Amino acid sequence: MSALLTVEDLRVSFPTRTGVVEAVRGVSFTLGRERLGIVGESGSGKSQTGRAIMGLTPPHAQVTAKRLAFDGIDLLSAPPKLRRDLRGKRIAMILQDPKYSLNPVMSIGKQIVETLWRHEKVGRAEARKRALDMLAAVQIRDPARVFDLYPHEVSGGMGQRAMIAMMLVAGPELLIADEPTSALDVTVQLEVLSILDRLVAERGMGLIFVSHDLRLVSSFCDRVLVMYAGRIVEEIAASDLANARHPYTQGLLNCMPVIGADRHPLPVLDRKPEWAL
Ligand SMILES: Nc1ncnc2c1ncn2[C@@H]1O[C@H](COP(=O)(O)OP(=O)(O)OP(=O)(O)O)[C@@H](O)[C@H]1O
Ligand SMILES: [Mg+2]
Repeated sequence: MSALLTVEDLRVSFPTRTGVVEAVRGVSFTLGRERLGIVGESGSGKSQTGRAIMGLTPPHAQVTAKRLAFDGIDLLSAPPKLRRDLRGKRIAMILQDPKYSLNPVMSIGKQIVETLWRHEKVGRAEARKRALDMLAAVQIRDPARVFDLYPHEVSGGMGQRAMIAMMLVAGPELLIADEPTSALDVTVQLEVLSILDRLVAERGMGLIFVSHDLRLVSSFCDRVLVMYAGRIVEEIAASDLANARHPYTQGLLNCMPVIGADRHPLPVLDRKPEWAL
């Protein structure tokens, strides 16, 4: 498998009044055209890893890496214009909360069309058709009607799907999905996941799927990175999860509820200071 993305010793830190917060502390992995999951508890550095790849780290933060390369392009030394061009065109990211990604004062269809125009020169009719096709691809039943709606006029699940349509309209090769379904109810969650799954298979995209839900990630991805305190503590094939070696991964597995099983007392996730070293 050719590497679409190479990440070597990625570090992200934030200077704060009380000292430097090291959000990501030496993360390394490679990604082909496959589905890679990143799991870990809140604050473990999942989103900051995705944002650093995307080039969306807050300006006051410091990002370093031995190597951060997308399809042979060195991202950290790439000029800002090249990074902007890559973003949305070849690399796309679904953010944790769709509310921050959709523009509240522009209709959904117009936003998808504008995104396409930022990256491709296509005529008005062709752009509209591509946007409608994309809305249909994310299973929006009445694309022509939804095209003219504003974000506040659609449900959360529809907004999330509209955002996925916007992210995918330019045909990215790498998609970073940061908790794309955690704000949705379970049935809509599964729908959105199956849409992503189909698009990844049909388009041969590489996918980084970020979640705190180990069960969801392992059912959906080929490979899983487990993060703890800014580092990868374990990398494991999804099919091999039951044989996880790291006590943190084992702890996450033991905390997953089993229907019908007696859960008294409730298991508590154990954390050892030495895992964060
Ligand atoms: N702007 C910022 N300034 C200072 N520290 C930050 C900033 N953004 C993130 N951090 C810190 O970076 C660490 C990692 O954050 P990140 O958002 O990557 O976590 P996460 O694994 O995505 O968590 P969650 O599951 O809650 O989304 C956290 O400790 C967080 O407090
Ligand atoms: Mg996050």
